[in-house]
Amino acid sequence: MISDLWYKNAVIYCIAVESFMDSDGDGVGDFRGLTRRLDYLHGLGVTAIWLMPFQASPGKDDGYDVSDYYAVDPRYGTLGDFVEFTHGAKQRGMRVLIDLVVNHTSDQHPWFKSARSDPKSPYRDWYVWSKKKPNNADKGMVFPGVQKTTWTRDEKADAYYFHRFYDFQPDLNTANPEVQAEILKIMGFWIQLGVSGFRMDAVPFVIADKGADAGLNPKSDFQMLRTFREFLQWRLGDSIILGEANIVPKEAKKYFGDDGDRLQMMFNFHVNQNLFYALASSDAQPLSKALNETKPGYDTAQWGLFLRNHDELDLGRLKDDQRAKVFAEFGPDKSMQLYDRGIRRRLAPMLKADRRRLELAYSLMFTLPGTPVMRYGDEIGMGDDLSLPERYCARTPMQWSSEPHGGFSKGKKTYLPAISGGGFGFETVNVAEQRRDKDSLLNWMERIIRMRQEVPEIGWGDYTVLPLGTKTALGLRYDWRNNSVVILHNFDPEPREVVFDPGADDGVLIDLLSDRHSKADKDGKHRLTLEGYGYRWFRLGGLNYLLDRSDI
Ligand code: NOJ
Repeated sequence: MISDLWYKNAVIYCIAVESFMDSDGDGVGDFRGLTRRLDYLHGLGVTAIWLMPFQASPGKDDGYDVSDYYAVDPRYGTLGDFVEFTHGAKQRGMRVLIDLVVNHTSDQHPWFKSARSDPKSPYRDWYVWSKKKPNNADKGMVFPGVQKTTWTRDEKADAYYFHRFYDFQPDLNTANPEVQAEILKIMGFWIQLGVSGFRMDAVPFVIADKGADAGLNPKSDFQMLRTFREFLQWRLGDSIILGEANIVPKEAKKYFGDDGDRLQMMFNFHVNQNLFYALASSDAQPLSKALNETKPGYDTAQWGLFLRNHDELDLGRLKDDQRAKVFAEFGPDKSMQLYDRGIRRRLAPMLKADRRRLELAYSLMFTLPGTPVMRYGDEIGMGDDLSLPERYCARTPMQWSSEPHGGFSKGKKTYLPAISGGGFGFETVNVAEQRRDKDSLLNWMERIIRMRQEVPEIGWGDYTVLPLGTKTALGLRYDWRNNSVVILHNFDPEPREVVFDPGADDGVLIDLLSDRHSKADKDGKHRLTLEGYGYRWFRLGGLNYLLDRSDI
């Protein structure tokens, strides 16, 4: 049935508990605060919430350094508060996905403490050791410029341990069957507490061969992904894994599985980078190519479509001149760039808060093939604080109102200061203000999400890139169970005429966002002018704009 694969037509919204709403005035967001905001999220049209790590952690990588997989960090509340939250979400028909960070633990995790203290520890082999410093120890860092090595010597252990990320994040030896069993146990635990699946952190590294001899292009154990999926589906049939895997398109099938039997979802990093190139250059051609290269190929597989997330915008896979173009347009200053490959800003400042460009970008996120994944604050056009280090600049408190700390906390001091003053400060950019203004970005976002939910062709259908006669515009047609839509976007600041043949229809394209319907010329082609940065969503087939679901 259509509703069974819920993730195919979902609207996912990413939240850091820490940043969303503080209920007790200690300056840190918590589950009680988040629970009070569930009606807001529901009203916005969110159907699934993705929570960033909230488990016990020293917090040196914002929770991606877990020290207890089975506990809520006390700063955010208790397990009881967590269950109240998942229950509240469920009552409103929203699903919850949580981060699963099992490539590594914190160095403060009791497993690592035990492993390093005693060669006979039952946890020794849960990590990856080498007596001698491996030759490639200064290669393969994920955070170049900040992280110096991937192998660090531990005095107590009298050995080097492997860490793909920071030195306080020792890699788990995921090839060890005991570690794999523990990963399943962690999933089983949270599934029992009401979640519908996981955003799996760093998937390519989880399944890669680790160890001093693994080399720079280690082999991957894709079978592990099938094991995870099988386990999950035994426990809860409709639970999913959304993988974080920044891979080249030809690898994607291995992650989705030859028979679509591994990950249900993955973030589409390839489209993300080419999308930013299109936004920066007004050239939609590389994006069209990226879309053709990333057809998932199975009905059950789905891409997660995003613009910005909590990390830097990674441009590492673009060609040098393309990357230079995106840097020049969106992150010209060194302070805006990170790890020699990306931009650390939020979207709204990158686009200079230009409403036309913001709508273009979000319209794309909601209509490119896949499931849209928003980030908290996107809906009001929140900014960033470049005085904060690394990726923290885009992790500031949610801006609810013009009250102190943006209404996020009644405390004296918050975990990071809310953005104040300038064009993006909470005094002007906040939910309360935008709720009152029918033309605000927030109200636009609510309307576009509602429409996206009514266009399941995008989440479910087959797509074709439509030639439009200009390289600055992108046309997509989706077909699904006798329903079709045509979506057009113009990356050019200037108006552009487009000419296209949408395929079989009765000559009229119904505009889903306005009354500017399009009638075909005698030759069956449509000719229309897209405004500068304009976008149009059309449904094929008669004057009834609603989806014809009679055959389902
Ligand atoms: C990817 C996460 O998105 C990032 O924030 C984190 O630092 C690394 N994985 C390490 O867990």
